[in-house]
Amino acid sequence: MELYNLKHPDQKVSFTEAVKLGLGRDRGLFFPTVIPVLDDVEALLAMPFVERSKHVLGAWLAQELGQEMVDSLVEKAFNFDLPLVKADDKRYCLELFHGPTLAFKDFGARFMAQCLNSLATEDKITILTATSGDTGAAVADAFYGLDKIQVVVMYPQGKISLLQEKMFTTLGENIHTVAVESDFDACQDLVKAAFEDADVRDGLHLNSANSINISRLLAQICYYFEAVAQFKREHKGDPVIAVPSGNFGNLTAGLFAKAMGLPIKRFVAATNSNDTVPRYLTDGQWQPHKTVATMSNAMDVAEPSNWPRVEAIVEAMGWELNAITGVALSEADTDKALKQLQQGGYLSEPHAAIAAEALSLTMNHDEQGIFLGTAHPAKFKDVVESVLGIELPLPAELQAVADKPILSVAMQPSFSALKAHLLATLG
Ligand SMILES: Cc1ncc(COP(=O)(O)O)c(C=O)c1O
Repeated sequence: MELYNLKHPDQKVSFTEAVKLGLGRDRGLFFPTVIPVLDDVEALLAMPFVERSKHVLGAWLAQELGQEMVDSLVEKAFNFDLPLVKADDKRYCLELFHGPTLAFKDFGARFMAQCLNSLATEDKITILTATSGDTGAAVADAFYGLDKIQVVVMYPQGKISLLQEKMFTTLGENIHTVAVESDFDACQDLVKAAFEDADVRDGLHLNSANSINISRLLAQICYYFEAVAQFKREHKGDPVIAVPSGNFGNLTAGLFAKAMGLPIKRFVAATNSNDTVPRYLTDGQWQPHKTVATMSNAMDVAEPSNWPRVEAIVEAMGWELNAITGVALSEADTDKALKQLQQGGYLSEPHAAIAAEALSLTMNHDEQGIFLGTAHPAKFKDVVESVLGIELPLPAELQAVADKPILSVAMQPSFSALKAHLLATLG
């Protein structure tokens, strides 16, 4: 698979290089030179998820990695369910939160972890990442126990929920966690400083495992195929798919799936009041406002970093950008959407509820739609309980970590302290 840098098209890399580099020169995103088109989508849709995903990812990667390696990566990464659940007569939720950390991120993070572990030629790679909550859990869980990789997760002490903290600080082995006595920005500054320091960067073979990595997006393509496969078992037409969006990685993967030949009628890009994209789709003006805090906080992004990839797919396929419908919901509308779903018998959380409502607002009377369920309602327990006036039981995955001890090292926000710690522990 060949990819090029969207900012410097002369920079061309293989998939293996793109996975290890993450970003190209000048922080340019890697984009595939060719988008493969699948011959017999109907036959693929009849297959079980894991089997089908081997074909879907093989179309991108088999030439470079060999089909056998692709099969093995898929088998190790995708080992949990993703049911399409009826929310009401016209809307279905593709529940992507049945993985180990109860979020859609498990798909991308687990596949990326398997790719890095298999493709790394260095003795050992160190993943260094900062988290304000959920990413830490998905990354730590995905890389836990892999022999070639050490993980260091930094987070602001006391500024994430205790349960979130327990999900990644109780694992041990190759997962090292640092509680920084400051805020999330300080954690990000420390990560940046580490990547700029040659002793740490080169000595520990640093990699960031961030969500811009192409391996994560390829993995996410597979669940769109599963959504349509399950939908088509009961319906004749093609579904409209609404994607709760922040950084727009999820929508990028959906567009790749459609470009490969998956029958999706159209996409709805659903955001909270951080609405740069819906406004842009309406008036053609790219004018990010300051980020505002909302109850769907994983989508509080004013400058989505994957957007150049969305435009590149649309251009490569000769589609119109305005074929994507943008919908932005206020906090009051999110509240209402969550309640409406509950009244119809479907318990959700704010991110998915925004996408569900975006379907209702944009579908014609003869259409049916799918919205992506990106997180388990219990991951947003406080908001869901307060909006719906209910008590949510803790799922087994969260219950299991609740009583385990936290293994983090506490640290002042000082790069010299971090450097000494990293070199002493991992060097
Ligand atoms: C629960 C949840 N929903 C939706 C999103 C948005 O996905 P994307 O950033 O790919 O647009 C995120 C991103 O972190 C998320 O955590």
